[in-house]
Amino acid sequence: MKTIKTYVQENKERFISELIDLLKIPSISADLEYKKDILKTADAIKESLEKAGCKKTEICETPGNPIVYGEHIIDEQLPTVLVYGHYDVQPADPIELWDSPPFEPVIKKTDIHPEGAIFARGACDDKGQLFMHVKAFEYMIQNDTLPCNVKFMIEGEEEVGSPSLEWFVKRNQEKLSNDVILISDTGMISNQQPSITTGLRGLSYVEVEIIGPNRDLHSGLYGGAVANPINILTKLIASLHDENNHITIPGFYDKVIEASDEERIEMAKAPFSLDAYKKALDIEDVYGEKGYTTNERNSIRPTLDVNGIWGGYSGEGAKTVIASKAFAKISMRLVPDQDPDEITEMFSNHFKSIAPKSVKVKVTAHHGGHAYVTPIDNIGYKAANRAYTESFGVEAIPQRSGGSIPIVALFEQELKSKTILMGFGLDSDAIHSPNEHYGIFNYLKGIETIPLFYKYYTDLFNKQ
Ligand code: BES
Ligand code: MN
Ligand code: MN
Repeated sequence: MKTIKTYVQENKERFISELIDLLKIPSISADLEYKKDILKTADAIKESLEKAGCKKTEICETPGNPIVYGEHIIDEQLPTVLVYGHYDVQPADPIELWDSPPFEPVIKKTDIHPEGAIFARGACDDKGQLFMHVKAFEYMIQNDTLPCNVKFMIEGEEEVGSPSLEWFVKRNQEKLSNDVILISDTGMISNQQPSITTGLRGLSYVEVEIIGPNRDLHSGLYGGAVANPINILTKLIASLHDENNHITIPGFYDKVIEASDEERIEMAKAPFSLDAYKKALDIEDVYGEKGYTTNERNSIRPTLDVNGIWGGYSGEGAKTVIASKAFAKISMRLVPDQDPDEITEMFSNHFKSIAPKSVKVKVTAHHGGHAYVTPIDNIGYKAANRAYTESFGVEAIPQRSGGSIPIVALFEQELKSKTILMGFGLDSDAIHSPNEHYGIFNYLKGIETIPLFYKYYTDLFNKQ
């Protein structure tokens, strides 16, 4: 029997080249043009599970993109770990800002990744991270060290709000039954300081449309006399935050659970350099809600952000025009116990109520989801912490993240189990941005750490 360290050393070139092959397929879920690549990626994941030694694998059809399911049951008495991940990726645009093509992976060294990082869309989010689980599983099978049962559920619609996963989970509760859910789709503090994500924010995502005159108008002939939808839109959006950067939607904060002083003191102990943060983003100063630190603002506080805004003329030169319509996409990140549907409703009512009569307002809801927080006194967290401590040589720090994986709250509701978020990405890995990358160190360290989780989890499970 080989140790996981030896196995990784002996197989790392193959592990890297297999991931690179997976990254070459542009499995963009937001764009139907890529449907065949979605299907191809699902097949590739299924095949990789089979090759790793997974006894039962299948492609499960859904109303949307297929879910890859795998199952390896060794003994009904033993605990079952359900691994979740997503094989779909974000669109690559703006494509011109990539230093190398997003679906032609290259390995380059960076300051943070002196051992090299793989640059490609999906490298970190989430193909690189989900593939660590396939390789860790391969090790445990090939070396006969798998201590418990495993199920895999890898979906292809996470980046568009997992519209079919709820459908799938509700219909397959028995099949998906488990003792703990394990996900690597988050980050950690640094390569020297691992952390375990103990919270995710929820999400309410809306699109607004301001409708003015029935056609685009000459801005000289009509300017000043009719409402300009773009002027109105920007004015309305600006009013959504007050001078302290609090959100002004009535009722927005009603259900927010304020973090206790103890919790805030604990949070402030995590290593963080504001100077390094500003430097990495090339900004003079940070910005945000008064009364909260940067790390609080991006994790335990709700937010409202415009993600895109358009309308009128944005081509070359100057066109004198008052556009008939203006649009914006707005996301609100939520914290416990805000309800995404309620927040969407509050937003919609408020936005319509503050608009002048001179325009019509349309608000369309996109996907949403609840926030999630997990306690650290359960055996899943303890096993994860032991695994990180052994492979990194330092204990992991619990940390709430600002990102969202809305399906995690649903898992708890439908499958009644806790999720352990063992992420190995870094905030600087540029997920969703041009030049997304994933450190070779992180990838291999993840493969090394995961089998330790299985071991400690099964130990703790058997002792309870
Ligand atoms: N993996 C991310 C979420 C994430 C990243 C959480 C880093 C914590 C740390 C996931 O793929 C993602 O991008 N989620 C979306 C929400 C989804 C509904 C589109 C997000 O957070 O914007
Ligand atoms: Mn992800
Ligand atoms: Mn993502």
